[in-house]
Amino acid sequence: MRSTPRPGAVGSTVRRGLVAAAVLALGATAAVATATSASAAVACKVNYTASQWQGGMSANLSIQNLGDALNGWTLTFTFPNSGQKVGQGWSGNWSQSGSTVTVTPMDWNKQLSSGGSTSIGFNGTWSGSNPTPTDFKINGVSCNGTQQSPTPPVSPSAPVSPSAPASPTPPVSPSPVVSPSAPASPTPPVSPPPPGVHVDNPYAGADGYVNPDWSASAKSEPGGSRVANISTAVWLDRIAAITSGSAGNNSKGLREHLDEAVKQDAANGNTPLTIQVVIYDLPNRDCSALASNGELKIAENGLARYKSEYIDVIAGIMADSKYSNLRIVTVIEPDSLPNLITNVSNFQACQEAQSSGAYVQGVQYALNKLHAISNVYTYVDAAHHAWLGWDNNFQPMVNLFHQVATGTTAGVNSIDGFIVNTANFAALTEPYFNINTSVNGQSVRQSTWVDWNWYVDESSFATALRNALVAKGFPNTIGMLVDTSRNGWGGSARPTKASTSTNVNTFVNESRVDRRIHAGNWCNQSGAGMGERPKANPAPGFDAYVWIKPPGESDGSSSQIPNDEGKGFDRMCDPTYGGNNLNGNNPSGALAGAPVSGHWFSAQFQQLMQNAYPPLS
Ligand code: BGC
Repeated sequence: MRSTPRPGAVGSTVRRGLVAAAVLALGATAAVATATSASAAVACKVNYTASQWQGGMSANLSIQNLGDALNGWTLTFTFPNSGQKVGQGWSGNWSQSGSTVTVTPMDWNKQLSSGGSTSIGFNGTWSGSNPTPTDFKINGVSCNGTQQSPTPPVSPSAPVSPSAPASPTPPVSPSPVVSPSAPASPTPPVSPPPPGVHVDNPYAGADGYVNPDWSASAKSEPGGSRVANISTAVWLDRIAAITSGSAGNNSKGLREHLDEAVKQDAANGNTPLTIQVVIYDLPNRDCSALASNGELKIAENGLARYKSEYIDVIAGIMADSKYSNLRIVTVIEPDSLPNLITNVSNFQACQEAQSSGAYVQGVQYALNKLHAISNVYTYVDAAHHAWLGWDNNFQPMVNLFHQVATGTTAGVNSIDGFIVNTANFAALTEPYFNINTSVNGQSVRQSTWVDWNWYVDESSFATALRNALVAKGFPNTIGMLVDTSRNGWGGSARPTKASTSTNVNTFVNESRVDRRIHAGNWCNQSGAGMGERPKANPAPGFDAYVWIKPPGESDGSSSQIPNDEGKGFDRMCDPTYGGNNLNGNNPSGALAGAPVSGHWFSAQFQQLMQNAYPPLS
């Protein structure tokens, strides 16, 4: 696979794109909220969505701050029915007293900027009925979507505060009165949703499937057992991989993986198990590069074969009731739709993918078949910031995702989320500068590295992309994934502080943790390390950090190697290559001695461990 950047080339005509749109959307309310109050004016909106089953539920709440910025907040609401109980919550500290639920934030979401939002949720139980609560309050102020002052107007005839006691002796404990004889806020047993129920975030509260093929390769390397039990994705990179897994590094077919997943699930009590499968065989695959070209061609009836010999077979296996307790995450077609945004004019294979409709129809077909299976989750690939982070690319990509989704049977609901950085190396977060940093009066956007992009890392890109997708019409429940398998950038070359240079290029180059020669380089990058270990709910709007590209599997051969997988030789994998206009004519930064994509590359695996960030223990 390839991750093609589209350099800005926008000079002075840059439009503000998403940033402007986001501000506009909240403009009216935000203006009201800040106009009148000297103290923090609280105004908020809460969107509550729940899936439920007999006796259980999984709920998501998105809290929108429509008032002044908040540093710390308390959300309360009341369950209409006394049988409704919170079990295990996330992205906040959850407690319940009687029917009243109270949530205080975690460190990372306690600050809510004006116009900002955060998503929290819980799994719980109910008996009788499960009505939706409506009386959400932040810091005691009702979240009805309009501004209210926290302090009611002082009027001698009006009650000063409904909660202030009239009695001269204040109650010892003003907070929820618990009768001494009543059990202090009974904590209901945590009730994970029954296996197989489609939850909002398939990673929450779940174990990850350990692919025995990858695990064995990792273990065969000195020091590899430190990571060999980490969950990595299973790539179905050709039709044969479904049945025999014969390609690349893999020995198991899909059924064998799912059977093994059932075993791993059974070995771990009640915790659900999530297995990740990459759907990667569109006709004219990898249309702007060569290293991961596939077996199917549009001109050779590839779309029909994709449907009947690939997607139908995969969906048939996944729908087997033997596997209905697993949470099966599918990553849909890395690089494909992004190639339609940036590479149609330059690459004949992409042009064909567009004019024939094969990519769009293939992805829609996959979504229809996979979404129809209730324990399967769909995450569509959304490239990375150094591909889509320019105005010319960003909103057109959002529009295309929306168009693709609305053309499926379930519409926007056929997509559970989006994934960024699949098999790429872009840093999760640049700790020493962001897009608003300027150096000596010059924005970092003017640096050669950032090149007028609106994002410097995947966290900021994925957040903005999610906001734009929701603004376009996707449900607020969509979650982002970030492939962090190789974006750690630790080791001795990692900067430990911001540069003090007053030259914007030097500043960025000395401060950035992403040590690539150019952000458009994508093949077997020298100096990279394993990134954040897989983790559920790592930040607001993110379902998980995941390891989709199995570290140690090559991105492409560094010289021409004959193979029977349809893969070509892409010079971006050749360390002696001087680059092209997509990477600013820079060297490829690729490691030497690399095998064909998907095959085990021991030297790369060793370097990825050595430069892991956070470091391996
Ligand atoms: C290759 C696939 C491989 C995958 C995971 C892709 O670049 O084309 O064959 O399965 O990487 O390593």
